Amino acid sequence: MESLDVLATECRQCRRCPLAEARTQVVLARGNPSARLLLIGEAPGADEDRLGLPFVGRSGQLLDRLLTEAGLDPERDLFIVNAIKCRPPQNRRPTPVELAACRPWMERQVALVDPDLILLVGATALQGVLGVKGGITRLRGQWRPGEGHLLAGRALMPLLHPSYLLRNASEAEGSPRWHTRADLAAVRRRLDGQGLPRPTAPERQELGDTKRSC
Ligand code: URA
Repeated sequence: MESLDVLATECRQCRRCPLAEARTQVVLARGNPSARLLLIGEAPGADEDRLGLPFVGRSGQLLDRLLTEAGLDPERDLFIVNAIKCRPPQNRRPTPVELAACRPWMERQVALVDPDLILLVGATALQGVLGVKGGITRLRGQWRPGEGHLLAGRALMPLLHPSYLLRNASEAEGSPRWHTRADLAAVRRRLDGQGLPRPTAPERQELGDTKRSC
């Protein structure tokens, strides 16, 4: 039966693109696989490659701080993954070929976690998931309805990447950090507006929801 454990075992053997050669390990996810909110980032950096978890370096610390300030617990309220599971050399941007090679892993994560809301953190996640090239500063903070088999019924919001926020430290009104705080507040409101917490696994089974196996 498909589960996140099966996916992890298979992904650890992945050799679909040259990034496999230089990685220390694949970086799959952290957080709560039953969360209604999935966050998709770009690719692991050096800290993530070493520790095997996404967003655990300086970007991740800032991300966690902004999420927490918005009332979102990174370990409880989100499942956090990357569009690319292996570290690109020198932290360069993943190529379209690498994004395409890695996409099936991300698609399986989306299907298994079955989130209501998806945050696309940075231009690479926006391109890798929605195929939209560029425009993150214009598109950030806007909810977009998901389309197609995988995304229909889910709402997606692009967000500025925390590494960009690290380079732009102003907290002034209208600054990138100020916008990101407003965007995360909107995410929180939308989660709250969706009412009751998602049912537990046994409750879902009782409700006849057999889609999720983890
Ligand atoms: N940047 C990302 O997009 N993902 C990580 O896991 C770390 C930094």
